[in-house]
Amino acid sequence: MSSPDDLSSLLRQSQPQEIISFLRAAGEVGKEMGYSLYLVGGDVRDLLLERPNQDVDLVVEGDALLLARHLAEKMGGEVISHPRFGTATFNRQGLRVDLAMARNETYAKPGALPLVRPGSIQEDLYRRDFTINAMAIYLSPPRFGELLDPFKGRDDLRLGLIRVLHEGSFIDDATRILRAIRYEQRLGFKLEDKTEELMSRDLSMLKTISGDRLRHELEIVLYEERPELALSRAEGVGILKTIHPTLRGDEWIAKKFQEARKAAGSPTPELYLCLLSYRLSSQEAEDLVRHFRFPGNLAKAIRDTVKLKGEVDKLSQPDSHPSQIYHTLRGYSEVSIRAGISASTSSIAAKNMEQYLERWQSLKPHLDGTALKAMGISQGPLLGKMLKALLEARLDGEVSTVEEERSFVERKLSQGDLAEFKEG
Ligand code: CTP
Repeated sequence: MSSPDDLSSLLRQSQPQEIISFLRAAGEVGKEMGYSLYLVGGDVRDLLLERPNQDVDLVVEGDALLLARHLAEKMGGEVISHPRFGTATFNRQGLRVDLAMARNETYAKPGALPLVRPGSIQEDLYRRDFTINAMAIYLSPPRFGELLDPFKGRDDLRLGLIRVLHEGSFIDDATRILRAIRYEQRLGFKLEDKTEELMSRDLSMLKTISGDRLRHELEIVLYEERPELALSRAEGVGILKTIHPTLRGDEWIAKKFQEARKAAGSPTPELYLCLLSYRLSSQEAEDLVRHFRFPGNLAKAIRDTVKLKGEVDKLSQPDSHPSQIYHTLRGYSEVSIRAGISASTSSIAAKNMEQYLERWQSLKPHLDGTALKAMGISQGPLLGKMLKALLEARLDGEVSTVEEERSFVERKLSQGDLAEFKEG
């Protein structure tokens, strides 16, 4: 009978055969080089929880780059090295594996990136965030499949607890405060009592984290299946207001996120971000963009979302023509309109925005500039005017076939100043 720490059969049941063969072969190649190799982190956690996980993260007591190169020589595949970090990514036929050297980390000051030197697997696990993420599985023969669990992460998985490894964990890296909440809510776990105490003690350490790193943590919260759970808990323990005073995780957010999922299946993190920004004033939105250093496309999405709120009255008029809605919404990013649909209190505005996205924004007249020129309209502003008039007529249902468009143009030409429209 296999020992409770032997996870080789669990590995076989949960991973595709090609991954198992790769892990065995990698363990053997590592052994030939005198290195011990381990599967680590979220992979091991999810394996024990029998949850899917697409990552293959390996740690090697030795030179990760050299091992990756040897693996590629033996099995084929490509290696991308990151020498500055002592890491490499190995790709072969759709299989992606990240390899890192086992490392020891010390933090010179809170929020700074750690000082790194080569270390043992024990040291590598000790630098990690929570007990449930600080387990490894041996891949080197003859111990393939054996669990290494120095901090009793497996017990915490059974107990459903998120527990830091030491008192200074949140001071070393305050992003762990958000990570703790994210895992807690994703897995339906609880913060262990002492961990919760340390978290409230160290909340202010979030101020040591750069806008870029905070943005990354916020984005990965928004990739969760139900991000509102983590946001609500983060608001409850005072994390959100410590990060930025405009962030909310209240009932409104929960309701809007759920509605967005009903409407869109799996909304993008960008849509959730727009919903998070929806109730802000334009000044608050600017503060948010600056604080998190959102890149251009996201900054535009946030600004558009807030600005679009100011158009709701216009979009709610029951007798508006589609062409009016079109001109109001043109230029707004699609995701901000989607946020407007979910968040607006006017059903007429929401319907108009839906119609715009589904039909009007991509509607084009049959006749283009070349066709209009062939009808005698000269290149210039008037051609543009005629194209615009045609598009509006098409949007408003005044014309639909190419013949109707031709008559429309001819009618306009005969009504207007012919000298303006005609060539020569
Ligand atoms: N880690 C850590 N502290 C951090 C970030 C990461 O200790 N601030 C460690 C954890 O051991 C984690 C591993 O690095 O398991 C990989 O990090 P990441 O990919 O962010 O997390 P996963 O555990 O893979 O979790 P997820 O399912 O959310 O991707």
